[in-house]
Amino acid sequence: MKEIIHGSILRSLVLGAVLLTSHLALASDKSVLDRIKAANEPFDTMKIDSTHPLSMKTVRSNDSYQGGTFKVLTRKDSIERFRCSGCHKDKKVQVRDGVSFTHGDIVINHGSEGTSLSCSDCHNEKERDFLVGKKGQKIDFDHSYQLCGKCHFRQKSDWVGGAHGKRVKYWAGERVVYNCATCHNPHSPRFKKRMPATFSRPLDE
Ligand code: HEC
Ligand code: HEC
Ligand code: HEC
Ligand code: HEC
Repeated sequence: MKEIIHGSILRSLVLGAVLLTSHLALASDKSVLDRIKAANEPFDTMKIDSTHPLSMKTVRSNDSYQGGTFKVLTRKDSIERFRCSGCHKDKKVQVRDGVSFTHGDIVINHGSEGTSLSCSDCHNEKERDFLVGKKGQKIDFDHSYQLCGKCHFRQKSDWVGGAHGKRVKYWAGERVVYNCATCHNPHSPRFKKRMPATFSRPLDE
């Protein structure tokens, strides 16, 4: 009996000492905010890109949102006929039915009623490896969102802010988003109308 009482007094003494020292340690720290900051530091400086590499190719966007940059999925590696300069050199390509032979699959269904856009609204006529900006400047195919932005500025600014389009990965760390052409075919950008798929059984079955 005695031993048990002794044991428990001893245990509470030890416990008290531990509590006292930890309390002292806390009291010696600075403010609560400072402690939270110190605990977050390793995460704030963590490079997520290196710990979880993205399997898709990206480029840094030429736009920034609230001072921060973001990345965009590339396009050039998914364009079948790139590089265009393989055929489009300084001379006109001399092939009979050249256009239909090489680009006959391209159907333009883009523009206002009746007036379809023409190739040269978007493609640089002198340097086919590039698209063409508002002032005739070259636009890289990986940055084709800049081309779309010259006519669709509302969707473009929504996209820059993250309201239109899709973020690929990462809630923390740098934003990586789909390019406009990842979703829209620039030659025929509207999506087909479709009924929502339904898999529930009819009620009377
Ligand atoms: C296999 C060869 C080949 C490749 C590769 C090629 N083109 Fe062409 N392209 C032609 C030929 C041939 C013509 C018709 C003659 C001409 O305009 O020089 C043509 C015509 C065009 C025209 C004018 C069409 C018209 O209706 O006036 C555009 C625009 C064009 N090409 C864009 C491109 C772009 C952009 C690429 C790269 C993504 C590309 N081409 C890659 C062969 C090619
Ligand atoms: C609204 C702008 C726009 C118009 C108009 C346009 N293009 Fe394009 N075109 C693009 C963009 C942007 C791409 C790159 C698509 C991508 O990233 O997949 C492209 C891609 C292409 C390619 C490469 C496709 C492939 O996968 O090999 C060819 C060839 C081409 N365009 C030819 C033409 C021709 C010919 C015309 C006119 C008849 C034309 N384009 C009209 C914007 C346009
Ligand atoms: C030279 C100007 C111009 C460029 C560049 C351009 N577009 Fe368009 N786009 C138009 C016009 C004009 C319309 C028709 C507008 C309408 O019907 O209200 C249109 C229509 C559209 C539509 C259908 C809109 C609707 O209400 O159904 C989509 C989607 C679209 N464009 C996407 C794109 C994408 C993506 C790009 C870049 C690859 C692009 N556009 C580049 C002028 C342009
Ligand atoms: C994740 C895929 C995705 C990306 C990326 C994307 N869009 Fe769209 N976009 C859509 C969808 C889905 C719609 C709605 C289509 C519908 O209602 O039929 C749409 C609609 C549009 C329209 C029609 C008008 C409207 O606002 O509904 C335009 C114009 C357009 N997009 C332009 C662009 C441009 C320019 C970019 C790049 C800056 C872009 N989109 C990037 C999926 C995308």
